[in-house]
This record gives sequence, structure tokens and C-alpha cells, in this order.
Amino acid sequence: MAGRERNRVGRRRRIGAALLTVLAAVLATAAGSAAATTPRGTVPARQEPDTSKITPAMVDAGRAIFHGKGTCFACHGMNLEGTQVAPTLKAHAWRDAKKGEFAAIFSVATHGVAGTLMVAFPNGISRAEALNVAAYVWSVGQGRAKP
Ligand code: HEC
Repeated sequence: MAGRERNRVGRRRRIGAALLTVLAAVLATAAGSAAATTPRGTVPARQEPDTSKITPAMVDAGRAIFHGKGTCFACHGMNLEGTQVAPTLKAHAWRDAKKGEFAAIFSVATHGVAGTLMVAFPNGISRAEALNVAAYVWSVGQGRAKP
């Protein structure tokens, strides 16, 4: 009787330990995937355009978005040189993004240009992705990054 009682307690402890192991694994996976979607340095604390907060990681993430998910390259060219559809995004007489400033480029990416092919958040990019892609475009225009 006493032995059986001890076994039951022992089993309860084992179940408790197993639950803890599962919980730890779930937490580790959640932390891992959060890190995968937002690599360190690609999203500044405040998502506002500030050139002093541009990191190389942001520019690299922006380059990937420009040539991938954001589809910017399709209209603005692989090297930001422009196409028949859309203007260059290198230094030029900016029409919508006034003076080619970081904030102005970010604004065009998030608001679009009404009545043109330039839509807000092209291909459904997020605000953070728009910030990264604007950081990339601005940095290339400033000669601080390669296209
Ligand atoms: C479907 C084509 C298309 C795609 C995709 C596109 N754009 Fe544009 N974009 C345009 C057009 C067209 C204009 C010029 C609008 C006008 O006539 O004033 C423009 C203008 C701009 C401007 C302002 C240029 C200036 O002279 O002021 C910026 C900045 C810009 N796009 C950034 C981006 C970024 C960043 C992406 C990707 C996230 C992107 N665009 C995706 C077509 C596109």
C-alpha cells in the first residue's frame, strides 16, 4: 500500500517534469521564430525614418525586399536605374519623394502616389519592411551602399 502510494507520487513528478520539458521546447521555438522574422538590427525600436538609425542589417534586409517581396525592381530596375514604367531611385530630380530624403522615400513606400502604378506598401510589405527598403534606397542614393 505504501509502495503503491510512492509510485503514484513518483509518476506525478515525472508528468510534471515532462510538461516542463514541453513548455521549455515551445518557448524556445517561439523565441527562435521571432528571431528568424526580425533579425537583430533590421527593425529599430521606433519605426520612424531616422538616418542615424540606419544599420547595415537594415540596408541588407531592404535590398532583399527591393529585389524580392516588395517587387520594386520590376518597375524601378535591378540597380534602381529606372525602367519605362517607373523613374530611377538613384539621385535624380525627385518628383514625389521630395529631395530624396529618407522620410520622403519611406512616405512614398507607405502612401504610394495616387493615380499611378506606385501603390502604398507594394505587394503587401509591412511597415518595418517599408522602412528597411527606404533605408536601402536612401543609402544607395547617398553612395553609402551598393545596389
Ligand atoms: C508596379 C510598378 C511599381 C512598383 C512595384 C514600385 N513602384 Fe515605386 N514608383 C512607380 C511609379 C510609376 C512611380 C512614379 C509615380 C509618378 O508618376 O509620380 C514610382 C515612384 C516611386 C518613388 C518616388 C520617385 C520620385 O521621383 O520621387 C519611390 C521612392 C518609389 N517609387 C519607391 C518604390 C519602392 C521602395 C518600391 C518597392 C517597395 C516600389 N517603388 C515599387 C512604380 C512602381
